[in-house]
Order: sequence, then C-alpha cells, then structure tokens
Amino acid sequence: MRVLESKFVNDFIDMAQEGYEQGWHERNGGNLSYRIRAHEVEAIRERFQENAAWSPIGAAVPELAGEFFLVTGTGRFFRNIRPDPEACLGIIEIDGTGENYRLCWGYVEGGRPTSELPTHLLNHQVKKRVTGGRHRIIYHAHTTNIIALSFVLPLKDEIFTRELWEMATECPVVFPEGIGMIDWMVPGGREIGVATSHLMEKYNAVIWAMHGMFCSGATFDETFGLMHTIEKSAEILVKVMSMTDKKRQTITPDNFRALEKGFSITLDERFLFEKNGGAD
Ligand code: 13P
Ligand code: ZN
Repeated sequence: MRVLESKFVNDFIDMAQEGYEQGWHERNGGNLSYRIRAHEVEAIRERFQENAAWSPIGAAVPELAGEFFLVTGTGRFFRNIRPDPEACLGIIEIDGTGENYRLCWGYVEGGRPTSELPTHLLNHQVKKRVTGGRHRIIYHAHTTNIIALSFVLPLKDEIFTRELWEMATECPVVFPEGIGMIDWMVPGGREIGVATSHLMEKYNAVIWAMHGMFCSGATFDETFGLMHTIEKSAEILVKVMSMTDKKRQTITPDNFRALEKGFSITLDERFLFEKNGGAD
C-alpha cells in the first residue's frame, strides 16, 4: 500500500489542516506526532527506505524502542501539509535503546522531525505507560487565547483548570483531570520535554506559558477535540475578562460536584476551592 493511502496518514493530514484553519499554526508553529500501530506499519513497510543513518533523539525513551511515528518536520508549515505531505511529514523508527531514530519515509526535500521531538517522545512514553497503550497522539498548537491568558493568570494548575472549567459546563466533563502549567522555558529541548512529560503522568493537556499547549489522546478526534475545547473555553474567558473584572454569576463548586455522578467523572477537590468574592 502507498503510504499516502493509509487511513492514519489521511486522518493526520485532516487534523493538521483543521488546526491550521483554526489559526493555531502561524508559519511553522506547532507540531503533531502519531505512534503507528504494528499492522499499520506492516501495510506500508515495503515503501520504507532501508538503512538510513541513526540520529540522536536528544532524550532517552527506552519504553518506545522499536516503535514507529509519523511526525511533522521541523520548520514545515501546517498550511503546506495537505498540499505537500511528503515534504512536510516523515515516518521515523526508534532504535532498540530508545536513544536514536532513523527516517523510513518522507521529508523528501530533506529535513528532520520537529525540534520538539524530545517533548513528543517523552510524552508518548509516559502516555503509552499510563494509558496501557491507548494514547497514540501528541499535538502541540499555538492556541491564541490560552497564550493570552498565560500573561494575566497565575501559572498554577489549579487556577487555569478552575477558570477554564467555569467557562463552559462541558469542560470538566472533557478534561476532568485538569490542566498542567509550565512556566516559560526554552523550547525545543530535553529539559522542557521532561517537565512536560511529568505533568502528562496525570494530565492530558499541558500549557506552555507564553507559547502554546500540548494535548494527548487516543484518537485524532479526541486529541483535536480536547485542544479545541480548552482553547474555546480560553476564548470565552478572554471575552469575559475584557468585559468585566467581576462575574455576576458562574458555575459554583457545588454545581461542579453535581456533575460528577451523571457524567461518571471524579473532580479533584483541589480545583474546587472557595473563592473570595463569590462569583469572581
Ligand atoms: P518546529 O518547526 O521545529 O516543529 O517548531 C515549531 C514550534 O512550535 C516549536 O515550539
Ligand atoms: Zn511551539
């Protein structure tokens, strides 16, 4: 089978295009990776180049040894993925130590995986472990309203989670585990990847202050939907804060608790603190 005929490749391209249309991928902003299933690899393996040189990942991911990933290329624009996928995307294989990768397909004009490969793979490693292999997608986007909020809200998991939950009743249902926060750090390396992957042990979404967001999920729809829900909630919060510094009414801690039974979710009391000033 041709690589570009695979369903997972087409779903990947569709998601990248949708993200671009949301305005989250200016220039080369953002990146996307998918941990490919064994049978999906087998169906296209005859199209892979053989014996490409191994390159260091820049992080150790031994739990991903032998896995294959579809990954956006560094410096590539999301807007070009659909029209030119073979130049913008690559399939890489991880070696037996989990410290090196090699190119199997793609990046036909030269190039290499995203500069955020350490964060993607460290997140994949954690998610493969904690979800029993269910999660396969890591998505990084430059979501405008989340970035804006990171200039004005305290960079605390509890504050961001609670403020975003309050903006739409569906939020605690979509991300009951909350959201993790990373203060400003240099992107593109192991250090920010390690910090992000620690938060991915308990969260499916992590915000990089003044930069963007990472989301993890089992399917393209679920992962895109999580990013979309959080960013939509941030947009509402930006609108509310632009109108007033005091909400007249809001969703209360008891309202949140009332959602738990009907939606079969458990909300950590850490996010349901009482605020001074009622609705504010
Ligand atoms: P890449 O072009 O290397 O994927 O980088 C884009 C980005 O968003 C860095 O955080
Ligand atoms: Zn980025």
